[in-house]
Amino acid sequence: MKGSLAYERLHANLPALNLATVERGIDVALENGAKGAHPLTEVFDDLVDREVKTRQALSTETRVRLAGFPVRKRLEEFDFEFQPSVDPTLIQELATMRFVHNAENVILVGPAGVGKTHLAIALGMEAARAGFSVTFMSASRALGKLRQAMDRGLLERTLRNLCRSRLLILDEIGYLPWDRTMAHLFFRIVANRYERASTLFTSNKAFSEWGEVLGDPVLAAAVLDRILHHSTTVNIRGESYRLRVRRKAGTPTPVVPMESKERVDASTRERRR
Ligand SMILES: Nc1ncnc2c1ncn2[C@@H]1O[C@H](COP(=O)(O)OP(=O)(O)OP(=O)(O)O)[C@@H](O)[C@H]1O
Ligand SMILES: [Mg+2]
Repeated sequence: MKGSLAYERLHANLPALNLATVERGIDVALENGAKGAHPLTEVFDDLVDREVKTRQALSTETRVRLAGFPVRKRLEEFDFEFQPSVDPTLIQELATMRFVHNAENVILVGPAGVGKTHLAIALGMEAARAGFSVTFMSASRALGKLRQAMDRGLLERTLRNLCRSRLLILDEIGYLPWDRTMAHLFFRIVANRYERASTLFTSNKAFSEWGEVLGDPVLAAAVLDRILHHSTTVNIRGESYRLRVRRKAGTPTPVVPMESKERVDASTRERRR
Protein backbone atom coordinates (compact mmCIF):
# COMPACT_ATOMS: atom_id res chain seq x y z
CA MET A 1 0.00 0.00 0.00
CA LYS A 2 1.19 3.51 -0.85
CA GLY A 3 2.53 5.54 2.09
CA SER A 4 -0.05 8.30 1.64
CA LEU A 5 -2.88 5.74 1.65
CA ALA A 6 -1.54 4.07 4.78
CA TYR A 7 -1.28 7.48 6.42
CA GLU A 8 -4.89 8.33 5.53
CA ARG A 9 -6.10 4.94 6.75
CA LEU A 10 -4.21 5.35 10.02
CA HIS A 11 -5.95 8.71 10.64
CA ALA A 12 -9.32 7.14 9.82
CA ASN A 13 -8.84 3.93 11.84
CA LEU A 14 -7.56 5.47 15.06
CA PRO A 15 -10.76 7.46 15.84
CA ALA A 16 -12.80 4.45 14.64
CA LEU A 17 -11.07 2.48 17.43
CA ASN A 18 -11.78 5.32 19.87
CA LEU A 19 -8.10 6.24 20.05
CA ALA A 20 -8.55 10.00 19.62
CA THR A 21 -5.52 10.95 21.71
CA VAL A 22 -3.26 8.62 19.73
CA GLU A 23 -4.63 10.13 16.55
CA ARG A 24 -3.87 13.65 17.77
CA GLY A 25 -0.28 12.69 18.61
CA ILE A 26 0.48 10.40 15.68
CA ASP A 27 1.97 13.05 13.37
CA VAL A 28 4.54 14.17 15.94
CA ALA A 29 5.26 10.54 16.79
CA LEU A 30 5.83 9.67 13.10
CA GLU A 31 8.18 12.65 12.76
CA ASN A 32 10.10 11.62 15.89
CA GLY A 33 10.28 8.07 14.62
CA ALA A 34 11.55 9.19 11.23
CA LYS A 35 14.22 11.39 12.81
CA GLY A 36 15.38 8.43 14.83
CA ALA A 37 15.98 10.72 17.83
CA HIS A 38 14.14 8.30 20.15
CA PRO A 39 13.84 4.51 19.97
CA LEU A 40 10.52 3.46 18.38
CA THR A 41 9.54 1.64 21.58
CA GLU A 42 9.65 4.95 23.45
CA VAL A 43 7.70 6.74 20.74
CA PHE A 44 4.93 4.11 20.85
CA ASP A 45 4.97 3.93 24.63
CA ASP A 46 4.55 7.70 24.91
CA LEU A 47 1.65 7.66 22.44
CA VAL A 48 -0.22 4.84 24.18
CA ASP A 49 0.49 6.22 27.65
CA ARG A 50 -1.09 9.56 26.72
CA GLU A 51 -4.21 7.75 25.54
CA VAL A 52 -4.44 5.81 28.83
CA LYS A 53 -3.92 8.95 30.95
CA THR A 54 -6.51 10.94 29.02
CA ARG A 55 -9.06 8.16 29.47
CA GLN A 56 -8.30 7.83 33.18
CA ALA A 57 -8.74 11.59 33.65
CA LEU A 58 -12.06 11.48 31.79
CA SER A 59 -13.45 8.60 33.83
CA THR A 60 -12.26 10.21 37.09
CA GLU A 61 -14.07 13.39 36.07
CA THR A 62 -17.23 11.37 35.34
CA ARG A 63 -17.05 9.64 38.75
CA VAL A 64 -16.47 12.99 40.51
CA ARG A 65 -19.48 14.51 38.72
CA LEU A 66 -21.69 11.51 39.54
CA ALA A 67 -20.64 11.63 43.22
CA GLY A 68 -22.61 14.86 43.73
CA PHE A 69 -20.04 16.76 45.80
CA PRO A 70 -21.41 20.21 46.78
CA VAL A 71 -17.96 21.70 46.02
CA ARG A 72 -14.60 20.22 45.14
CA LYS A 73 -11.94 20.03 47.85
CA ARG A 74 -8.45 18.57 47.73
CA LEU A 75 -6.28 17.10 50.47
CA GLU A 76 -3.47 19.40 49.32
CA GLU A 77 -5.67 22.38 50.23
CA PHE A 78 -6.10 21.19 53.82
CA ASP A 79 -3.92 23.14 56.25
CA PHE A 80 -2.79 20.50 58.76
CA GLU A 81 -0.87 23.10 60.77
CA PHE A 82 -4.09 24.95 61.49
CA GLN A 83 -5.73 21.72 62.74
CA PRO A 84 -3.04 19.84 64.72
CA SER A 85 -5.58 17.35 66.10
CA VAL A 86 -5.74 15.84 62.59
CA ASP A 87 -2.83 13.45 62.04
CA PRO A 88 -1.62 13.94 58.45
CA THR A 89 -0.18 10.39 58.41
CA LEU A 90 -3.59 8.94 59.24
CA ILE A 91 -5.26 11.00 56.50
CA GLN A 92 -2.56 9.92 54.02
CA GLU A 93 -3.21 6.30 55.03
CA LEU A 94 -6.94 6.81 54.41
CA ALA A 95 -6.07 8.39 51.05
CA THR A 96 -4.42 5.13 49.96
CA MET A 97 -8.03 3.82 49.80
CA ARG A 98 -7.17 0.65 51.64
CA PHE A 99 -10.29 1.26 53.73
CA VAL A 100 -12.46 1.21 50.60
CA HIS A 101 -10.77 -2.00 49.37
CA ASN A 102 -11.55 -3.59 52.74
CA ALA A 103 -15.12 -2.20 53.05
CA GLU A 104 -14.20 -0.36 56.26
CA ASN A 105 -15.81 2.81 57.57
CA VAL A 106 -14.49 6.24 58.49
CA ILE A 107 -16.09 8.61 60.97
CA LEU A 108 -14.99 12.24 61.16
CA VAL A 109 -16.20 13.79 64.42
CA GLY A 110 -15.84 17.37 65.60
CA PRO A 111 -17.48 20.75 66.11
CA ALA A 112 -18.47 23.22 63.36
CA GLY A 113 -15.99 24.46 60.80
CA VAL A 114 -13.05 22.18 61.67
CA GLY A 115 -12.87 20.66 58.18
CA LYS A 116 -14.98 17.47 58.38
CA THR A 117 -16.78 18.05 55.10
CA HIS A 118 -13.55 19.25 53.46
CA LEU A 119 -11.75 16.02 54.38
CA ALA A 120 -14.78 13.90 53.45
CA ILE A 121 -14.95 15.44 49.96
CA ALA A 122 -11.18 15.29 49.50
CA LEU A 123 -11.13 11.57 50.41
CA GLY A 124 -14.13 11.03 48.13
CA MET A 125 -12.23 12.65 45.26
CA GLU A 126 -9.25 10.39 45.96
CA ALA A 127 -11.60 7.40 45.84
CA ALA A 128 -12.95 8.57 42.47
CA ARG A 129 -9.39 8.95 41.21
CA ALA A 130 -8.59 5.43 42.39
CA GLY A 131 -11.49 4.15 40.27
CA PHE A 132 -14.18 3.66 42.95
CA SER A 133 -17.75 4.81 42.52
CA VAL A 134 -18.64 7.45 45.13
CA THR A 135 -21.87 9.03 46.37
CA PHE A 136 -21.87 12.13 48.60
CA MET A 137 -25.04 13.23 50.39
CA SER A 138 -26.08 14.91 53.59
CA ALA A 139 -27.47 12.18 55.84
CA SER A 140 -30.81 13.96 56.17
CA ARG A 141 -31.16 14.27 52.39
CA ALA A 142 -30.40 10.55 51.93
CA LEU A 143 -33.00 9.64 54.55
CA GLY A 144 -35.52 12.08 53.03
CA LYS A 145 -35.05 10.36 49.66
CA LEU A 146 -35.57 6.93 51.22
CA ARG A 147 -38.69 8.09 53.05
CA GLN A 148 -40.19 9.47 49.83
CA ALA A 149 -39.35 6.20 48.08
CA MET A 150 -40.95 4.24 50.92
CA ASP A 151 -44.16 6.26 50.58
CA ARG A 152 -44.23 5.31 46.89
CA GLY A 153 -43.45 1.65 47.55
CA LEU A 154 -39.97 1.97 46.04
CA LEU A 155 -37.86 1.64 49.19
CA GLU A 156 -35.91 -1.52 48.29
CA ARG A 157 -34.96 -0.24 44.84
CA THR A 158 -33.92 3.19 46.11
CA LEU A 159 -31.94 1.65 48.96
CA ARG A 160 -30.12 -0.59 46.48
CA ASN A 161 -29.33 2.43 44.27
CA LEU A 162 -28.14 4.51 47.20
CA CYS A 163 -25.94 1.67 48.42
CA ARG A 164 -24.52 0.83 45.01
CA SER A 165 -21.39 3.02 45.33
CA ARG A 166 -18.21 1.54 46.78
CA LEU A 167 -17.92 4.65 48.97
CA LEU A 168 -21.01 6.37 50.37
CA ILE A 169 -20.35 9.64 52.21
CA LEU A 170 -23.08 10.66 54.64
CA ASP A 171 -22.40 14.20 55.82
CA GLU A 172 -23.82 15.92 58.89
CA ILE A 173 -25.08 13.13 61.13
CA GLY A 174 -26.82 14.74 64.10
CA TYR A 175 -27.38 18.22 62.69
CA LEU A 176 -31.11 17.86 62.13
CA PRO A 177 -33.43 15.84 64.37
CA TRP A 178 -34.56 12.50 62.92
CA ASP A 179 -37.88 10.89 63.61
CA ARG A 180 -38.39 7.17 64.17
CA THR A 181 -38.80 6.35 60.49
CA MET A 182 -35.61 8.18 59.55
CA ALA A 183 -33.69 6.41 62.34
CA HIS A 184 -34.90 3.03 61.01
CA LEU A 185 -33.97 3.97 57.45
CA PHE A 186 -30.50 4.94 58.71
CA PHE A 187 -30.18 1.48 60.25
CA ARG A 188 -31.19 -0.03 56.89
CA ILE A 189 -28.36 1.85 55.12
CA VAL A 190 -25.80 0.81 57.73
CA ALA A 191 -26.95 -2.83 57.77
CA ASN A 192 -27.00 -2.97 53.96
CA ARG A 193 -23.39 -1.79 53.69
CA TYR A 194 -21.98 -3.65 56.71
CA GLU A 195 -18.86 -5.61 55.63
CA ARG A 196 -19.84 -5.07 51.98
CA ALA A 197 -18.92 -1.46 51.20
CA SER A 198 -17.43 1.58 52.90
CA THR A 199 -19.33 4.46 54.41
CA LEU A 200 -17.75 7.70 55.57
CA PHE A 201 -19.76 9.64 58.16
CA THR A 202 -19.23 13.17 59.44
CA SER A 203 -20.84 14.26 62.69
CA ASN A 204 -20.73 17.00 65.29
CA LYS A 205 -21.95 14.52 67.91
CA ALA A 206 -19.90 12.14 70.04
CA PHE A 207 -20.94 8.47 69.74
CA SER A 208 -22.48 8.69 73.21
CA GLU A 209 -24.96 11.21 71.79
CA TRP A 210 -26.09 9.09 68.83
CA GLY A 211 -28.87 7.63 70.99
CA GLU A 212 -30.38 11.13 71.07
CA VAL A 213 -29.77 11.64 67.36
CA LEU A 214 -31.60 8.43 66.47
CA GLY A 215 -34.16 8.92 69.25
CA ASP A 216 -33.57 5.31 70.34
CA PRO A 217 -30.53 4.16 72.34
CA VAL A 218 -31.02 0.47 71.45
CA LEU A 219 -31.13 1.20 67.72
CA ALA A 220 -28.14 3.56 68.09
CA ALA A 221 -26.17 0.76 69.79
CA ALA A 222 -26.98 -1.65 66.94
CA VAL A 223 -25.99 0.98 64.36
CA LEU A 224 -22.71 1.87 66.11
CA ASP A 225 -21.85 -1.79 66.66
CA ARG A 226 -21.92 -2.33 62.89
CA ILE A 227 -20.27 0.96 61.91
CA LEU A 228 -17.42 0.68 64.41
CA HIS A 229 -16.64 -3.02 63.85
CA HIS A 230 -14.25 -2.17 61.00
CA SER A 231 -13.59 1.54 61.19
CA THR A 232 -11.29 4.50 61.71
CA THR A 233 -12.49 7.44 63.79
CA VAL A 234 -10.87 10.83 63.33
CA ASN A 235 -11.61 13.17 66.25
CA ILE A 236 -11.05 16.76 65.24
CA ARG A 237 -10.81 19.27 68.06
CA GLY A 238 -10.02 22.88 67.53
CA GLU A 239 -11.06 26.18 66.14
CA SER A 240 -13.41 26.72 63.24
CA TYR A 241 -11.56 27.56 60.04
CA ARG A 242 -14.49 29.77 59.09
CA LEU A 243 -13.96 31.88 62.23
CA ARG A 244 -10.27 32.23 61.45
CA VAL A 245 -11.03 33.44 57.93
CA ARG A 246 -13.58 35.93 59.34
CA ARG A 247 -11.16 37.14 61.99
CA LYS A 248 -8.47 37.70 59.38
CA ALA A 249 -10.95 39.73 57.33
CA GLY A 250 -11.78 41.78 60.45
CA THR A 251 -15.43 40.64 60.50
CA PRO A 252 -16.85 40.34 64.03
CA THR A 253 -17.35 36.72 65.09
CA PRO A 254 -20.92 35.69 65.92
CA VAL A 255 -21.80 34.95 69.52
CA VAL A 256 -22.30 31.17 69.89
CA PRO A 257 -25.59 30.51 71.72
CA MET A 258 -24.90 29.09 75.15
CA GLU A 259 -26.83 25.90 74.51
CA SER A 260 -24.89 24.84 71.40
CA LYS A 261 -21.56 25.87 72.98
CA GLU A 262 -22.26 23.60 75.94
CA ARG A 263 -23.16 20.77 73.59
CA VAL A 264 -19.87 21.03 71.68
CA ASP A 265 -17.87 21.29 74.93
CA ALA A 266 -19.65 18.18 76.18
CA SER A 267 -18.88 16.18 73.05
CA THR A 268 -15.23 17.28 73.14
CA ARG A 269 -14.96 16.08 76.73
CA GLU A 270 -16.49 12.77 75.73
CA ARG A 271 -13.97 12.24 72.93
CA ARG A 272 -11.04 13.01 75.22
CA ARG A 273 -12.07 10.38 77.73
N1 LIG B 1 -7.54 22.91 58.00
C1 LIG B 1 -8.14 23.49 56.96
N2 LIG B 1 -7.39 23.93 55.90
C2 LIG B 1 -7.97 24.56 54.88
N3 LIG B 1 -9.30 24.83 54.77
C3 LIG B 1 -10.09 24.41 55.78
C4 LIG B 1 -9.56 23.73 56.91
N4 LIG B 1 -10.57 23.43 57.75
C5 LIG B 1 -11.67 23.89 57.15
N5 LIG B 1 -11.39 24.51 55.98
C6 LIG B 1 -12.33 25.21 55.10
O1 LIG B 1 -13.25 25.88 55.98
C7 LIG B 1 -14.57 25.75 55.51
C8 LIG B 1 -15.40 24.99 56.54
O2 LIG B 1 -14.92 23.63 56.63
P1 LIG B 1 -15.91 22.37 56.58
O3 LIG B 1 -17.14 22.73 55.81
O4 LIG B 1 -15.15 21.21 56.13
O5 LIG B 1 -16.25 22.28 58.13
P2 LIG B 1 -17.14 21.19 58.87
O6 LIG B 1 -16.30 20.59 59.93
O7 LIG B 1 -17.78 20.30 57.87
O8 LIG B 1 -18.22 22.14 59.58
P3 LIG B 1 -19.78 21.89 59.85
O9 LIG B 1 -19.86 21.01 61.06
O10 LIG B 1 -20.33 23.26 60.15
O11 LIG B 1 -20.40 21.27 58.65
C9 LIG B 1 -14.48 25.05 54.17
O12 LIG B 1 -14.41 26.03 53.17
C10 LIG B 1 -13.17 24.27 54.26
O13 LIG B 1 -12.59 24.09 52.97
MG1 LIG C 1 -19.70 20.04 57.23
